[in-house]
Amino acid sequence: MDLNGKVAIVTGAGQGIGRGIAIQLARSGASLAVVDVDAARAETVTNEIEDLGHSALAIHADVTDFDQVKRMVEGTLEAFHQIDILVNNAGITGRTLPLTKLEVSDWDEVMDVNLRAVFLCCKAVIDHMIERGYGRIVSIASVAGKEGNPTLIPYSTSKAGVIGLTKALAKEVTEYDIRVNCVSPAVIGTPLLDDMAPSTVEYMISKIPLGRVGKPEEVAAVVNFLASDLASFVTGQCYDISGGRATY
Ligand SMILES: NC(=O)c1ccc[n+]([C@@H]2O[C@H](COP(=O)([O-])OP(=O)(O)OC[C@H]3O[C@@H](n4cnc5c(N)ncnc54)[C@H](O)[C@@H]3O)[C@@H](O)[C@H]2O)c1
Repeated sequence: MDLNGKVAIVTGAGQGIGRGIAIQLARSGASLAVVDVDAARAETVTNEIEDLGHSALAIHADVTDFDQVKRMVEGTLEAFHQIDILVNNAGITGRTLPLTKLEVSDWDEVMDVNLRAVFLCCKAVIDHMIERGYGRIVSIASVAGKEGNPTLIPYSTSKAGVIGLTKALAKEVTEYDIRVNCVSPAVIGTPLLDDMAPSTVEYMISKIPLGRVGKPEEVAAVVNFLASDLASFVTGQCYDISGGRATY
């Protein structure tokens, strides 16, 4: 799990799971680019990491904009000279509505942040990783992407797309010591849940054999492994962090 000397970008790291991942990777020794569309949140988490005695850089970027994503990569390289780890964490649930009530714009907004942005971030770092012959990419999918949650069609579909992207990219870059994996959490206690209808959250908890929501640190622990040298024979996989919910 040691990440000393490594440099990691974590998107959507200003709160919730992303914040937990950024702090965990920093504790394991990585220097961190803390990326968020909310600049104040990115600054706060960066300060938290620095207070713990680790290196961090706040980057204000909207990961749906390719120019901003490219600047995110350039800024990280300027500060830390290399990128070893990319964690695609930024995501939104969108409105929790059945298909009859969804607008086309609901679909576009969720696909943009949850899937298109993952493609953009991978594209922006992959040449650098290929050149260096090393990389670890971990994306945050969701159990919704494997099983499908009612009233979350764009979200479920975008996360299924993240799993597909992970499996395809993983096979393209095996020879460069680049490993590409994703994780599929079930309900994790973060501010993202505040945006969901309580009935949707209750439905999701009722499906978890452990009978509770997970914690950001519990996701961060698995991401830490997948981001480390220890994951050398693991690629193209989707790890469940679901309290036993997923059945395959
Ligand atoms: N919380 C859960 O139950 C749960 C379960 C499964 C998967 N996930 C996934 O985990 C990831 C993190 O979820 P969370 O619960 O921590 O969410 P959250 O809403 O608490 O935090 C998400 C962060 O991403 C940032 N962000 C949003 N859009 C962005 C953009 N376009 N560019 C840059 N930053 C952006 C937000 O400002 C925020 O700080 C998401 O991909 C989510 O889909 C969450």
